[in-house]
Formats: sequence, structure tokens, C-alpha cells
Amino acid sequence: MSSDQQKRIAAEAALEYFDEGIIGIGTGSTVNHFIDLLSDIKHRVEAAVSSSEASTKRLQEHGIPVINLNAAGDLELYVDGADESNHHLQLIKGGGGALTREKIIAQVSRKFICIADEGKLVRRLGEFPLPVEVIPMARSLVARDLVKLGGTPVWREDFITDNGNQILDVHNLEIMEPLAMEQQINNITGVVTVGLFAKRPADILILGTDQGPKTITV
Ligand code: A5P
Repeated sequence: MSSDQQKRIAAEAALEYFDEGIIGIGTGSTVNHFIDLLSDIKHRVEAAVSSSEASTKRLQEHGIPVINLNAAGDLELYVDGADESNHHLQLIKGGGGALTREKIIAQVSRKFICIADEGKLVRRLGEFPLPVEVIPMARSLVARDLVKLGGTPVWREDFITDNGNQILDVHNLEIMEPLAMEQQINNITGVVTVGLFAKRPADILILGTDQGPKTITV
């Protein structure tokens, strides 16, 4: 089974957690499956709060209304993918560059369901380069500080986030303590958001596997 088929399986299983109302929607190829499935029950979707222009476009193409988070308040449910998850459901996110809005929606959501193919579950975070969104004028400053932490930052050239910022993908980081590292990187002047989701991890991880969906909670 391909990883894309596994993503579809995870998305199908996540749909069971949605009853009705307003839902938070992440970004990426796994979430795209979820959005497509959601369109079949869109009569139950009052509105979506979207984490990216790409997801907003897809939701609207399906006729699902998208509203601003400020109008929505706290959310019951947020569904999003990840680039890596450990067994504590701490995540690396931002492969698609939407990490800042994703982190904001995760923060205001009572339940955060992460959906992924089984290859995303890792023993230790960090093999996937850690995305960091930075204010453009601070890119070199932030990069130097990331080198001091032992990482190798690479500028994601020709990419601008939905917030008008830039991304550094940090290779070779040993993420032994995700929570501490999240705080440390967030404290660097010029950093908008680090793609480590440890302070607010997922509540439920649904992995698509060849044997069907596998659900992990902590
Ligand atoms: C988007 O910025 C990311 O956080 C995605 O959630 C992550 O990259 C997972 O993407 P896929 O579902 O495409 O693997």
C-alpha cells in the first residue's frame, strides 16, 4: 500500500470524530484527503477555520464556508497532518510551510487529531529537518543562533509563507527534549514560530497502516 493510501485511511478514521459545527483544518496532502471526505457531509459543517490559503481554497471549492479564527473562538476539533510524531504525540510540522497558523489553531482547539501514514511515527524527532518561520530581515541572525544549537539551517528559497515570512529548515538537530527546544528556538529574536509541537502536542494520532487505522493516545 502506498503512503498516500495510508493517508487516506487515517483521514477516513478521523472523520468519525467529527459530529457537527465548526472545525479546524490543517494543511498538507493528508488533510487534503480529509477535506475531500468532509465535503460528503458538508451539511453538518457549519464552517471551517483554515490554517493556510491552500486549504482555504480547497475547502471553498467543495462549498465549505471558511471563517476567521477571531470570529470562531475556541474550537472543539482540529484535524491536521505532521511530518513526524514521537510516541508522546509531540510533532514536527511545517513541511508545507503552514506551521504558524497550524500552531495557533492547535492552541485554541480542545481536541487535536493528527493524521498520518505510519512512516511518520519515529522514536526520536529530528530526522525530518525542523522548519522555522522567520521574519525575513532576521534570517541570517536566526540562522547563526540555530548553528549554535548544533543545527544546520537551510533557507527554503523561493518560498514565502502565507504570513509573508521565510522558512529555515534545520538539519542535524538532536531533539532530545522537544519541549525545551521548542521554547529555546521560539525565544530567538526574529523567530515567528518553530515547527516543534511539544507544548501543545496532538491528543490523538491516527496512523494509516496496511492493516487499517491505528489510533495512539497518551
Ligand atoms: C504543513 O505545513 C505541515 O505541517 C503538514 O501538516 C505536514 O507537512 C504534513 O504534510 P503531509 O500530510 O503532506 O505529509
